[in-house]
Amino acid sequence: MNYNEGMLRDGALESKTIIITGGGTGLGRSMGTYFLKLGANLVITSRKMDILQKSADEMMAETGGKVLAVECDVRNYEMVENVITKAYEEFGKVDVLLNNAAGNFISPTERLSHRAFDTVVDIVLRGSYNFTLAQGKKWIEDNQAGNILNIVTTYAWTGSGYVVPSATAKAGVLAMTRSLAVEWAKYNIRSNAIAPGPFPTSGAWERLLPGNLKEKFDPANKVPVGRVGDHQELANLAGYLVSDFSAYVTGEVVTIDGGEWLKGAGEFSMLDEVTPEMWDMLEMMRKKK
Ligand code: HXC
Ligand code: NAP
Repeated sequence: MNYNEGMLRDGALESKTIIITGGGTGLGRSMGTYFLKLGANLVITSRKMDILQKSADEMMAETGGKVLAVECDVRNYEMVENVITKAYEEFGKVDVLLNNAAGNFISPTERLSHRAFDTVVDIVLRGSYNFTLAQGKKWIEDNQAGNILNIVTTYAWTGSGYVVPSATAKAGVLAMTRSLAVEWAKYNIRSNAIAPGPFPTSGAWERLLPGNLKEKFDPANKVPVGRVGDHQELANLAGYLVSDFSAYVTGEVVTIDGGEWLKGAGEFSMLDEVTPEMWDMLEMMRKKK
């Protein structure tokens, strides 16, 4: 058994229909591929239809499952409603909404135009509430159970310099996750989030570590377990949260980051750099005293 193997039993998501925003690339695609292997039908959506359709075809060929690709800019409410309509036409119902689409880049905040700030906040926060509101209304109207999973980041609660629009928006998504877990529980709608640490994807890596920053700031060095994440271990966690096995879990944010953010928060975590010889010396000094 290993962390890069599928964890859930065969058929764990049988007959579930799952919408994944940003499902044609990166982590969205990896989670979606695993959901298909577990028996789900997928609706994937993003702006670039060529990439989206190619991914849908490859995911179907790999798993034998069904994937509907629908073009949508999550910032546009009419396009969001259209995705949901198409999903019901194709599969008759939607069981899970996975808000995964995001936009991000690094910059000193004072160098950003207000349009740049809007762009990231609109994709991350407006995109997530657009889909949540449209799908939530439909579930409530149909008296059908629902399950929402939002992908946030660990800086949703710590904040982070140089990605301030993203941190601001992800914090909003986290507040929405928890708020709706309580408000919509009466409608049998669950709402949870995952906060991933560093998981290599070309989308995130190229934008957040452009040029030689990758060599200068190896993300693995900040992670106590000493490595970056494997897509399958994120897919395993997401698979559990979108399945009925997690029926009693709502309002939760699960961190999967190898201990990265806590290391940053711990006041004495930098003592990792003290060598055993230095510890020996310190101990001798203490004993002498
Ligand atoms: C400063 C920038 C910029 C940059 C764009 N802008 N890139 N400002 N630094 N690197 C400004 C533009 O100049 C413009 O402002 C405004 O933002 C809109 O730019 P557009 O290119 O027109 O926007 P759009 O085509 O909508 O593209 C959105 C995008 C792009 C966010 C800029 O990067 C994108 O499509 N990203 C999607 C995928 C992505 O980002 N994935 C990574 C998620 S990773 P002006 O004033 O000139 O009009 C993630 C991980 C977090 O979230 C945690 C990791 C550990
Ligand atoms: P990614 O491959 O760049 O994924 C982002 C996706 O969002 C793309 O498929 C993109 O497709 C879509 N998207 C962007 N703007 C959109 C819009 N306006 N409308 C519809 N779709 C849009 O990056 P990723 O690393 O897999 O990120 C996935 C999620 O994980 C994000 O929420 C990110 O914040 C989160 N995350 C990632 C990491 C990491 O280390 N990778 C860490 C923490 C959190 P189009 O360009 O075709 O629209």
